[in-house]
Amino acid sequence: MPHADSSLLPDYVKTKRDFWEHVNLQANGLMNDSLSWVTNLANVSSLVYHSLMDFDQFGLQERSPRPIVNWCGFYIDSCLFPPNSTLPTGVEDPNRILTLGPFCGRPACQLIKAKKGGGVCADAYLSRETLVVRDVDAYPGHIACDGDTKSEIVIPIKIQIQDKDTQRTEEIVLGVMDLDSIVLGAFDEEDVNGLEQLVKSVSVSCKW
Ligand code: SME
Repeated sequence: MPHADSSLLPDYVKTKRDFWEHVNLQANGLMNDSLSWVTNLANVSSLVYHSLMDFDQFGLQERSPRPIVNWCGFYIDSCLFPPNSTLPTGVEDPNRILTLGPFCGRPACQLIKAKKGGGVCADAYLSRETLVVRDVDAYPGHIACDGDTKSEIVIPIKIQIQDKDTQRTEEIVLGVMDLDSIVLGAFDEEDVNGLEQLVKSVSVSCKW
């Protein structure tokens, strides 16, 4: 199958649960071919965005000038980018920056300070919890990369590492996956489940 066809939805996909099951299967297939986080995040952004375009509940609709989901991509801890290209530590650092990674959609802000109250991505990153924001205008600190965005979901990317000296396992957060929508309350529990599963696969499929 040509790679592009992985983002075409088969007829049996009717519900959000079907949708995320299908997208997760396709993502795992694509990530089988690569350990590079840049490559995998690029293909996962494209897969999710274009699959959403093909899905009635999220894509382009007659009554809407833009797709319901208008942005899908990643912000990654700047430690992972050159010239450092190292894993972040598990220690909270107020100077930490999230850098725009692979995405699909219109251009977005490039750097986000990982400070509490510094936006949805920063808060999800620091709290290590998925954040579903029904109305971004009511969210303190929300960063408006696109004035049309009305709701948002952000999922932290976490991995387990073992400390060389103590041998203790530690969880570190590498960045976040972010989806934006032009309608209020676009994302629900099914999206949380599907996307958390996807982000978990991304975190273990890449060499960071
Ligand atoms: N709204 C995000 C910023 C990223 S864009 O939505 C692509 C935030 O508040 O962190």
